[in-house]
Amino acid sequence: MFFQIFLHFVSNLSTIAVGFLSVMVRWISVLKKYVESTRQKKAIFSKQERLPCIAPLVTTVEETPQIVSACVRGHFPQWLRGYLLRVGPGKFEFGKDKYNHWFDGMALLHQFRMEKGTVTYRSKFLQSDTYKANSVHDRIVISEFGTLAVPDPCKNVFERFLSKFEVPAITDNTNVNYVQYKGDYYLSTETNFMNKVDIKTLEKIEKVDWRKFIAVNGATAHPHYDADGTAYNMGNSYGSHGSCYNVIRVPPEKVDLGETIHGAQVICSIASAEGMRPSYYHSFGMTRNYIIFIEQPLKMNLWKVVTSKIRGKSFADGISWEPQYNTRFHVVDKHTGQLLPGMYYSKPFVTFHQINAFEDQGCVVIDLCCQDDGRSLEVYQLQNLRKVGEGLDQVYNSVGRSFPRRFVLPLHVSLNDPEGQNLSPLSYSSASAVKQADGKIWCSYENLHPEGLEDEGGIEFPQINYGQFSGRKYRFFYGCGFRHLVGDSLIKVDVVNKTLTIWREDGFYPSEPVFVPAPGTSEEDGGVILSVVITPKQNENNFLLVLDAKNFEELGRAEVPVQMPYGFHGTFVTI
Ligand SMILES: [Fe+2]
Repeated sequence: MFFQIFLHFVSNLSTIAVGFLSVMVRWISVLKKYVESTRQKKAIFSKQERLPCIAPLVTTVEETPQIVSACVRGHFPQWLRGYLLRVGPGKFEFGKDKYNHWFDGMALLHQFRMEKGTVTYRSKFLQSDTYKANSVHDRIVISEFGTLAVPDPCKNVFERFLSKFEVPAITDNTNVNYVQYKGDYYLSTETNFMNKVDIKTLEKIEKVDWRKFIAVNGATAHPHYDADGTAYNMGNSYGSHGSCYNVIRVPPEKVDLGETIHGAQVICSIASAEGMRPSYYHSFGMTRNYIIFIEQPLKMNLWKVVTSKIRGKSFADGISWEPQYNTRFHVVDKHTGQLLPGMYYSKPFVTFHQINAFEDQGCVVIDLCCQDDGRSLEVYQLQNLRKVGEGLDQVYNSVGRSFPRRFVLPLHVSLNDPEGQNLSPLSYSSASAVKQADGKIWCSYENLHPEGLEDEGGIEFPQINYGQFSGRKYRFFYGCGFRHLVGDSLIKVDVVNKTLTIWREDGFYPSEPVFVPAPGTSEEDGGVILSVVITPKQNENNFLLVLDAKNFEELGRAEVPVQMPYGFHGTFVTI
């Protein structure tokens, strides 16, 4: 892949000079827009003082492979029968080598098992090839997002120099999310590798490489699912024609019992606006009929990525926030694979997680957690998260807050549509979509929250009643408030009435809330919220919390005397 990119770059050198003038003209226009956009809106930052130290939440822990019984206070509903599976980083060094970034830690798998009101817990480190190689060598031998693996110190100077030119091994430390294909569970990050796992034993079954099935270099850890189990995802490809964003479809059924993602297809390829500088994205939206891809000005400089090893920099060094560009929405018909002609733009923002998307009156409505400042990735260095006192406050105060926003994309825009008018027919949303003279549709968002959310530090890790309301008009979503660098509250947002319901306990940090529907109800919030709540306090236990999703009242908690780090994502699996 890197060689392909290199060849592509060299072959285009001659055209670079020819295009220089036109690029200059474009830059002047981009800069003009940037000046305008910064005038329009400033990113929102919160101010916090004397934040408590959370270093123990981002520190290496021991795994707990033997099942531990939790001490239940209150009650867990009798109908709640299944596993809450979560994953996140749990080991941050090997020998004398230390990881730099929170995202780099080795995947630790957590399993809470609920049955007849009782709860058990266990955890295991994923036995990825990366984990095993690092363990054998007692040092970091495979680079991660924010950490460059350095050459073996036992090699001589010449060998160490030469090793800088070797193609770097790609990590299979899949520490971001549990995803599902054809009824099987996989751990995913954003590289080409996933690890299939046995959710009962937490043992790795098989390592799967996307590249063996389709021409992509990876896929997100946030696929979407149709009701029949068909999975959709997105992944980049890099070739002689530049970089593309690809929409992937994986069929729901297995032809043979042992197969994995066989039958996966790329159904649409969207060319990146800049071949060597595609956007970074972490998730995408899906309605019943459409995939919505957001090309945001958080750019990956492929030249920097390819040369990271030679330059002695990590992959993270190749990602930059470039608010001189706007954010663009692409809409793809998921049945035909056709990219719709509409050119939807908005002022620059960054989104990591979409909340939900649906169709209404000829429009796609997409709700996203958005930040106006896209520099948060670089802030989540472990040394920053482990700071204390004023230093920690400064780190927090430098991160842009995330807020839920609604965008409306009218699907059937014609040449005859008037310029300068809002083309959204939706009376319930103040989001607008205005056709410009150049044919582009300029999208302005609606805030989905009351002002009180700013006091909660914004919201992230959004979850909905996915089984019944994904791709449909909905009313509620759940997430974590961020009055700290990790979630410090659970929030239910009513996007229709714009109200908040909040659960908080000082000194405790809840994980992404997972909604589990109660049997026999079709009410959107008829069910419970599960969240793993952890604390840096040595004399307090971590616990699995169960809330009534309607009113956020605590039903019970299952305390476990085990140290757990703050993780990323998870899922509930009924047994
Ligand atoms: Fe995520």
